[in-house]
Amino acid sequence: MADLWIPDADLAARHSVKYRKFAPDVLPVWVAEMDTDLAEPVKAALAEAVAAGDTGYAHPNGLLEAFAGFASRRWGWAADPGRMVMMPDVMTAVVAFLTVITEPGDTVVVNTPAYPPFLERVAEIGRRTVQSALAETPAGLALDLTRLEADFAAGAAVYLLCNPHNPAGLVLTRGDLLAIAELAERYSVRVIADEIHAPLVYEGSVHVPFLSLGAPAARRAIALSSASKAWNLAGLKCAVLAAGPEAWADVQRIPIDVQYGAGLLGVIANQAAFEHGDAWLDTVIDALDGNRRLAGTLLREEVPQVGYQMPAATYLAWLDFRRTRLGDDPAEELRERGRVALSNGPHFGEVGLGFARLNLASSPERLAEAIHRIATVLA
Ligand SMILES: Cc1ncc(COP(=O)(O)O)c(C=O)c1O
Repeated sequence: MADLWIPDADLAARHSVKYRKFAPDVLPVWVAEMDTDLAEPVKAALAEAVAAGDTGYAHPNGLLEAFAGFASRRWGWAADPGRMVMMPDVMTAVVAFLTVITEPGDTVVVNTPAYPPFLERVAEIGRRTVQSALAETPAGLALDLTRLEADFAAGAAVYLLCNPHNPAGLVLTRGDLLAIAELAERYSVRVIADEIHAPLVYEGSVHVPFLSLGAPAARRAIALSSASKAWNLAGLKCAVLAAGPEAWADVQRIPIDVQYGAGLLGVIANQAAFEHGDAWLDTVIDALDGNRRLAGTLLREEVPQVGYQMPAATYLAWLDFRRTRLGDDPAEELRERGRVALSNGPHFGEVGLGFARLNLASSPERLAEAIHRIATVLA
């Protein structure tokens, strides 16, 4: 694993927002980028394209078939590339599809805590968000079907499902998803399934693609994916929108220009990742699995008052600081005094007060240093 994690000096030279937003002495463990090198097949495909000056406008090429192949190998889902389109990124696809299927003022339900752009981008296009809080249980955050039903019944148009869930790290079971599909059908709610984190599920959980359910609500749903999280390609701009058979006509109404906002290097990298990136992905999942356990051990030892639910997927951890004196937005003081940058909990919705999100995708040494800095502030 020695060459998976990039050395500190090389991370400091990176140009992306994770490493540039804050002063150099602040350890960045916030936005969802990983401190890893690229998968070799992805690097080779990009190098080849750059060497050939192959940098024109994007075309899907073999992207959609590559994603379908990956979905079949990893999740047993026989997805149809004939009902997929390339997109610039997941959030652009969410906004484009919402614009087509809803009217200003319509209600979009999101589970909170929520990936902040779910709340911000939906509001920007004049749709109303309803924050449907996950349930707090002794075992951590969980789907709250009673609450979800009440929010659907109050007149929702769309449910923006995030599975696996950022930031809770939850992976919904087939039973959960069937129950959601049943509620969506009963209350005529359209489902948009953001499954961007689905490649990064740890042993013990299984990702079930929403469209694979085949239920009526799944037939009218879309799902969004990308190699951008699991292979660390966010800046290259490419995602895949897959439509259920009865959502395909709506997808056709998305202006074609939206698709062509994708970056060609993103398409090339996504295709290489989905076709040839399984071995690297397995290595990353192993390393991150070690990190989520290490975080549990170190947090328990150094800051037992901070709540941590080990994620079942992805590399984001939702830390509960409500039993500390850090107030509503712990990330602020941690960054100012501790020189460690986590994501601000209140940005994830009303239930985010007193929380911060920790990105675990750093070398074990950097992760330990981040937790040590948190502990120093709380000492
Ligand atoms: C749940 C979720 N959706 C979407 C995104 C962003 O994806 P994109 O950059 O493709 O819009 C993220 C990024 O972290 C995410 O966590």
